[in-house]
Amino acid sequence: MIRFLINQESVEIDDARADLTLLQFIREYKHKTGTKEGCASGDCGACTVVVAEPNADFSSLHYRTLNSCITLMSAVHGKQLIFVEHLSDGNTLHPVQQALVDYHGSQCGFCTPGFIMSMFALYHTASTVNRDDVLNALSGNLCRCTGYRPIIDATLAVCEQQADDAFSRNTASTLGMLRTISTEGNDTVGTKNLIMPRDRKSLAKAIKDNPTAMLVSGSTDLSLTFTQQLKNIDTLISLSNMEELKVCTTTSHSLIIGAANPIKDITPALLEHFPQLAELVTRFASLPIRNQATLGGNVANASPIGDMPPALIALNATIMVDNGVQERAIPVSEFFVGYRETALKTDEWIAAIEIPFLNTHQRLAAYKISKRFEDDISAVCAVFNVTINEGIIEHVDAGFGGVAATPASCKSLHDALVGKAFTNKACVELGKAVLMNAFTPIDDVRATAEYRKTVLANLWHRFWLENQSDTTMTTRVVNHA
Ligand SMILES: Cc1cc2nc3c(=O)[nH]c(=O)nc-3n(C[C@H](O)[C@H](O)[C@H](O)COP(=O)(O)OP(=O)(O)OC[C@H]3O[C@@H](n4cnc5c(N)ncnc54)[C@H](O)[C@@H]3O)c2cc1C
Ligand code: FES
Ligand code: FES
Repeated sequence: MIRFLINQESVEIDDARADLTLLQFIREYKHKTGTKEGCASGDCGACTVVVAEPNADFSSLHYRTLNSCITLMSAVHGKQLIFVEHLSDGNTLHPVQQALVDYHGSQCGFCTPGFIMSMFALYHTASTVNRDDVLNALSGNLCRCTGYRPIIDATLAVCEQQADDAFSRNTASTLGMLRTISTEGNDTVGTKNLIMPRDRKSLAKAIKDNPTAMLVSGSTDLSLTFTQQLKNIDTLISLSNMEELKVCTTTSHSLIIGAANPIKDITPALLEHFPQLAELVTRFASLPIRNQATLGGNVANASPIGDMPPALIALNATIMVDNGVQERAIPVSEFFVGYRETALKTDEWIAAIEIPFLNTHQRLAAYKISKRFEDDISAVCAVFNVTINEGIIEHVDAGFGGVAATPASCKSLHDALVGKAFTNKACVELGKAVLMNAFTPIDDVRATAEYRKTVLANLWHRFWLENQSDTTMTTRVVNHA
């Protein structure tokens, strides 16, 4: 059984298809057509809805946007689902809707419900916002006719005030209903075809009993197999209820991130310890995708253009895997074994990713090159982690995306540069020459092979320039200006 609230109504589902999307459920089962389908791939935001989820002690609600076109029903279990029809109060528009009217933020209107829901989530998340907060909140919404300025202005204006609407007034009753849902029928969470284990033993059993079923976390990659490639999927095992895979801890020497944590939720911890990854983490897709997409999914997917694998390679991370009986640690350098192939065995899952902290001699920088600033996959991604002691390069760890069939390292870069004085201009030319010849990337819609090689070499040049000072760490500020 999947239990959740649709606004204030309690709902139970026990027979959903594994690949039923939230958008299909809303439009085809609930016959509410305000939520639109534009791209069916998480790119346009026309399908944006909001889920409100309780914190651990049921004292507050956290609102987050999701792209309903690529979201499975498992994602709403134990939460309140809110879509655009719920916002107005009789004939009175919700404050975010009224703001969009007042600022002339809609023309054809197809994108409008999605923008409204992103504005609504921000309205409930912050009492003061700046332009960057607004751009971040709207990063997953495209508008092809109005233009963004009036929409941004409307959002800035309405989000300057404390949320005051039916949802804030109903917080206590919503939390009460969600608490009741959470205590009902916990042994039977999920459906026959969308299995939702709650601990490692039941996850291991689900995998054993359903050998052809696939694991799914945030579903931002997997759902494209049925929304874009139109393949049927009979059974899925969702990790969204596995709280033990959402823990984030630090040891004396490392950060350990549970695999089922969404990118949005791990961002504070990741940037506290590795602020140099800001460009990758804050430019990872859009906010609704980051609200869903997990680090474990990004690693397991093994895409050659995924953003986190190059960082994990450069940082010498370890992938902790489990099968319910035995855990093992796989160095990230041994994890990606072929195009979209990993060292995971069929009965295993990624439980966590351990990232060792940097020492004071290591300089780290991460670069993402893509056509759009927001919501775009990298054409090239490069992460350099260079150990420099008394001016001499002792070690070079680097991870790259978009240049090979797998996320890649480059030992020849280390071999060429080790022992050299970092400030010597020869280091630039040497590194560039190595990187121009290290990979044989492909031409595709994102970039030509020649462009990719040239960018890679130039990113090494940029790293060299940015690290000429004596400061141990370089933090690059990323903003939307
Ligand atoms: C519009 C859009 C923009 C995107 N932009 C970016 C971007 O900028 N950068 C980027 O890197 N990616 C991007 N992606 C890709 C995607 O969001 C990420 O790869 C994401 O991290 C996948 O995580 P998930 O939890 O959604 O994975 P899912 O879709 O749930 O799963 C992906 C794969 O991993 C497997 N899997 C998931 N979790 C585990 C686990 N714990 N153990 C074992 N196997 C597991 C699943 O079986 C599946 O094969 C984008 C996707 C979309 C739709
Ligand atoms: S329909 Fe475009 S993001 Fe969902
Ligand atoms: S108003 Fe037409 S796409 Fe935005």
